[in-house]
Amino acid sequence: MSLPELAVQSLWFILPAYIANASPVLLKGRRPLDFGKKWGKNRILGDGKTWEGTIGGIVIGTMVGLLQIYAHNSLPASLGLAKLDFAIVFLLAAGALAGDVAGSFVKRRFSIPRGAHLPVFDQLTFLVAALLFSSVAYRPGSDMIIFLFILTPIVHWATNNVAYMLKLKSNPW
Ligand code: CTP
Ligand code: MG
Repeated sequence: MSLPELAVQSLWFILPAYIANASPVLLKGRRPLDFGKKWGKNRILGDGKTWEGTIGGIVIGTMVGLLQIYAHNSLPASLGLAKLDFAIVFLLAAGALAGDVAGSFVKRRFSIPRGAHLPVFDQLTFLVAALLFSSVAYRPGSDMIIFLFILTPIVHWATNNVAYMLKLKSNPW
């Protein structure tokens, strides 16, 4: 498989997870997922993980996946795009948010404040969980997985910088 083919097929597969991970910042959630509660001296998750963001992210990511399922028939078979189904796209979206929330849980346990940047970790927790969750329904090839581990930090960095420039986020990470 050529690199452009690998890129297109990988992006097609992971799109519900990317969309699910990127949506919460636009939703401006107010209700913290941890209800403001602490565990020990730190918040369980912190104000950066909200009900609106988490549920909204899963719903939006899944909806984009449903559009992909619908679009699959009208796209050229030569692209070799994975045939997705509801279980796959839902697990990708839910996994992305679960990984993001788990990442914040770990950060708070190490007393890393909400919004502080933990390179690589911040960019890959959602990918790892999305791949784990969806693996019960679909397992991409190892070439795709390797490609996604390289691509995701780059895409994450780029989209967060754009969100920062658009003043959607208060920091570029
Ligand atoms: N967000 C949300 N719910 C989520 C994830 C994100 O409401 N489950 C929103 C929050 O407004 C958050 C923003 O999207 O501030 C950016 O997300 P992220 O960078 O993951 O959160 P941080 O604020 O950096 O918090 P943390 O340090 O816990 O990752
Ligand atoms: Mg952050």
